Amino acid sequence: MTVNSFTSVSLEPPLVLVCVDAGGNMAGLFAQASHYGVNVLRESQADLSNRFSQRGFDRFDSVAWTRGAAGVPMLDGALARFECAVRHRVVAGDHSILIAEVVAAEYEDGAPLLYFDSGYRALP
Ligand SMILES: Cc1cc2nc3c(=O)[nH]c(=O)nc-3n(C[C@H](O)[C@H](O)[C@H](O)COP(=O)(O)O)c2cc1C
Repeated sequence: MTVNSFTSVSLEPPLVLVCVDAGGNMAGLFAQASHYGVNVLRESQADLSNRFSQRGFDRFDSVAWTRGAAGVPMLDGALARFECAVRHRVVAGDHSILIAEVVAAEYEDGAPLLYFDSGYRALP
């Protein structure tokens, strides 16, 4: 799923978080998952962001991806990829905050896709 709530939390240990809508279809899966993967998209990958924010079809169909060591989906061509082990779940309002430890990470050079004011942006 597409999220813009991805945030760094701690350096030692390396923790990150994502906030997941408790009313969405994904919430039940995330409630059980021991790990999740984070793929930071490139500025040229807005189509993937749109795809993974929609429901009612197989979002991975026709998308190139592999499983990381922990089994999480890693998208080919992403700017950065993190494999994360869930450490804490915090219910906050209508979202769940999933705090996880980064157990593997890789990145390549490039510019990230940004989202601001209801639209995709690129760094100038
Ligand atoms: C740019 C963008 C950022 C989003 N960020 C989040 C987010 O941080 N958390 C979240 O729960 N949903 C977020 N969404 C919405 C989810 O991607 C979308 O509701 C979800 O994929 C729908 O799937 P589901 O109803 O099957 O759970 C975002 C959507 C877009 C387009």
